Amino acid sequence: MVPWRQAWHDALYGEAGFYRRTEGPAGHFTTSTHGPLGVVLAEAIGRLADREGCTHVVDLGCGRGELLTHLHTARPDLTLTGVDVVGRPNGIPDAVAWLRSPGGGSLPEGLRGLVDVLVVAHEWLDVVPCTVAQVVAPGRLAVVLVDPVTGEEGLGGPLAADDLAWCARHWPVDDLPVGARVEVGGTRDAAWSDLVSRVGRGTLLAVDYGHVRGERPAQGTLTGYRAGDQVAPVPDGSCDVTAHVAVDSLDHDELTTQREGLRTLGVTAALPEHALARTDPAGYVAALSRSSAAAALMDPNGLGAFRWVLRRCPPAGARPSTAD
Ligand SMILES: C[S@@+](CC[C@H](N)C(=O)[O-])C[C@H]1O[C@@H](n2cnc3c(N)ncnc32)[C@H](O)[C@@H]1O
Repeated sequence: MVPWRQAWHDALYGEAGFYRRTEGPAGHFTTSTHGPLGVVLAEAIGRLADREGCTHVVDLGCGRGELLTHLHTARPDLTLTGVDVVGRPNGIPDAVAWLRSPGGGSLPEGLRGLVDVLVVAHEWLDVVPCTVAQVVAPGRLAVVLVDPVTGEEGLGGPLAADDLAWCARHWPVDDLPVGARVEVGGTRDAAWSDLVSRVGRGTLLAVDYGHVRGERPAQGTLTGYRAGDQVAPVPDGSCDVTAHVAVDSLDHDELTTQREGLRTLGVTAALPEHALARTDPAGYVAALSRSSAAAALMDPNGLGAFRWVLRRCPPAGARPSTAD
């Protein structure tokens, strides 16, 4: 048995890792970047780029370029770059640049010195492997181990000092019952900070399902997805392995929900006027589809509860004052 963090990394990003498969993530699960939802999300991302003064959008962990393809249709004026662990997929627009990445918490060397850029990391951090720990006695944590073939779990030794320090700061365990699980966010924080360091001037947006201090999940959130089904997280490369993100420990300027983030960008699920059905039937159907996509993206009990984490570079306080 090996620590979850290692088994998880090998399962997703090893030579035969899950994310290197030809079908890509969309072959196994649907996200807000796909289909009609992706059209509405891409338009909102275009508006966010405008609001933040960005002319270049980098999609980090972009799957097979689904969001970028929608964005290119909506906003051909923006410079677009996709980053993922595979080579450039067939069928994405020629105008979209592509960068291959090592995967997990590691980023490509070529991704540096970005300016006037909006970096979007949509459902990236939940697949950055992290230490999984379990309370084995009051206030005491052990590393959870896993058999990479069967998914059977066991308990290992105490946590490394950096993981313990992260827990003390962000996920205190003194009051947790024996058996409670902790998904230690240090690797996600480090990966995010590395991404932030690649931006000279611009804004980063992470979108993920997550939690904040005071609302941490008691039993952990580690799970798997394969071919549209939620499955046991066996780290054998046959399924996705994911865990919610402790979003408040990420370096950020703003933390909000997808529902609120989209609302501030002018997305609304309002239905079109029915009179339009008579004057412009095709336009009416298109508007209906758009409002149902917006409703799904903003559903407070569904995708709307996803967290939006915004970080500006340089951070707001460090910008030279325009009065100077
Ligand atoms: C859950 S999928 C999300 C895909 C897409 N963003 C979406 O929302 O539909 C996570 C993606 O992140 C990619 N990924 C993981 N670590 C990465 C890294 N360090 N650099 C680039 N891509 C990465 C995976 O290969 C996978 O395509």
